[in-house]
Amino acid sequence: MRLNGQRRWAAAGVAVATAVATFGVALSAPAGAAPGCRVDYKANNWGGGGFGAAVKITNLGDAVSNWTLKFSFPGGQRVTQGWSATWTQSGADVTAANASWNGSLGTGASIDIGFNGSYTGSTNADPTSFSLNGTVCTGLQPPTTTTTTTTSGDPNPDPGNRVDNPYVGAKQYVNPDWSAKAAAEPGGSRVANQPTGVWIDRIAAITGTADSRGIVGHLDEAVRQAAGSPLVIQFVIYNLPGRDCSALASNGELKATEIDRYKTEYIDPIAAILARPAYKDLRIVTTVEIDSLPNLVTNVTPRPTAVPQCDVMKANGNYVTGVGYALAKLGAVPNVYNYLDIGHHGWIGWDDNFGPTAELLFQAANASGSTKANVQGFIANTANYGALREPNFTIDDTVNGTSVRQSKWVDWNRYVDELSYAQAFRQRAVQAGFDANVGMLIDTSRNGWGGAARPTGPGPKTTVDAYVNGGKLDRRIHLGNWCNQSGAGLGERPTAAPASGVDAYVWMKPPGESDGASKEIPNNEGKGADKMCDPAYTGNVRNGNNLSGALADAPLSGKWFSAQFQELMRNAYPAL
Ligand code: BGC
Repeated sequence: MRLNGQRRWAAAGVAVATAVATFGVALSAPAGAAPGCRVDYKANNWGGGGFGAAVKITNLGDAVSNWTLKFSFPGGQRVTQGWSATWTQSGADVTAANASWNGSLGTGASIDIGFNGSYTGSTNADPTSFSLNGTVCTGLQPPTTTTTTTTSGDPNPDPGNRVDNPYVGAKQYVNPDWSAKAAAEPGGSRVANQPTGVWIDRIAAITGTADSRGIVGHLDEAVRQAAGSPLVIQFVIYNLPGRDCSALASNGELKATEIDRYKTEYIDPIAAILARPAYKDLRIVTTVEIDSLPNLVTNVTPRPTAVPQCDVMKANGNYVTGVGYALAKLGAVPNVYNYLDIGHHGWIGWDDNFGPTAELLFQAANASGSTKANVQGFIANTANYGALREPNFTIDDTVNGTSVRQSKWVDWNRYVDELSYAQAFRQRAVQAGFDANVGMLIDTSRNGWGGAARPTGPGPKTTVDAYVNGGKLDRRIHLGNWCNQSGAGLGERPTAAPASGVDAYVWMKPPGESDGASKEIPNNEGKGADKMCDPAYTGNVRNGNNLSGALADAPLSGKWFSAQFQELMRNAYPAL
């Protein structure tokens, strides 16, 4: 019997019967009992000696501004990880003290805390008495224990076993905050029901910001949307120390050295929330630290594209340490699926970059106590614009004896589009040591390249450049351009298992959210002004000194950019 394999049973269509013992959950304190507190304690045993417990504390006495809950385990249980309180244990005695943000508890108010624990032997007896601030909780409900049994045996004997492709047979979470913005645009209701990534782009995003709900709010809504079926919810983990070392638009809040804050204030609280029993049936996809490791391959000394800040991050090791830590902590949650970022073909598709990126990712997957088992796969093209397929030419074509690789656009790259890149990277990653069943995600949110200017066939075979330029769908000025690209359109709608080796096409970057501000905008998110977001900028070595191709008047990265959203809808391919 185990709860954390349930997603797999559901996918396999095996019925799961849940026996819940309840004892008048809604009762108030017994008449005549001294006012004080009530505790509802619910343990979910998942077998193998593991369990999760949800603990609801209700204050039946005077309002308090701090609280401490105490109880004792009757059978040698241990708390392994707790949330929404500071949990300590001494022998059998457990103490949960309020966190900084939930100390005040009014009369009649309740608070939900919880923990994961371990037990030995065949039973996991509930504690029989609780006290709050020294007062025994006489309004205690008889403890309840939830057990889960399968009707046809246990097809998933390994509690950590995930489904091979979480997207297959699952609904996907529609972020109501993004959806509302999309729906408010003229014509936006045509796309507002698409699933998009939820970016946890700073510590404050964990509990929620003015723009969006926090992780708990998303997960609660995801449980509601799931309505008992398998459902994928996608988070982007994006807050490394010294984030976005090669650009300025998405520089983050943590300084290059603040790896400890990354661990304790960012990853630990996220992992604790994702591990809550209430979310055990969701398939939680995390895409881990966009752009970070690829930057350590290409934008460091002695490359001509080196950026001092990337040299700093390579030397201090904090990207590798942080990614390893994130993988280990998030991967310890049995229903989390980690995907590592691999940039895109117009970045890592050159021979010098391709293998070294796979090797570096493998190193990070084994850093900070992580192992490769924590990596479900990889994601290509996150928030970028590379075409999914270039149907009008291949890398093997030649024009008058000259290879397509020698064209200005391809410039010796080994790939011409994201699909061929992602499929090849999968194989190279396996060669580097990753498991043979890793799967790819491709962000197709903004790589549609439709609209009136979309070529309908190959270019003329007069010169290799005429051939490539005349036939290519990607209409960027240069492959290295990445900010709010003019002419781009929505790409393939999110789809499960669309091609060999590909787990899904996803919309990880929420269309309509800016890549960066066209000019300096003061903010408290650490974000700088990157010239690549200014349409007048004439470029640098990373984009071959070309114009940036960015739309004008863009707001700060992550903020809603109505004009871009309209253009993405206009140039959608497939068309809306
Ligand atoms: C920004 C994030 C934002 C994300 C999704 C990134 O470029 O830095 O703040 O959440 O895009 O729009």
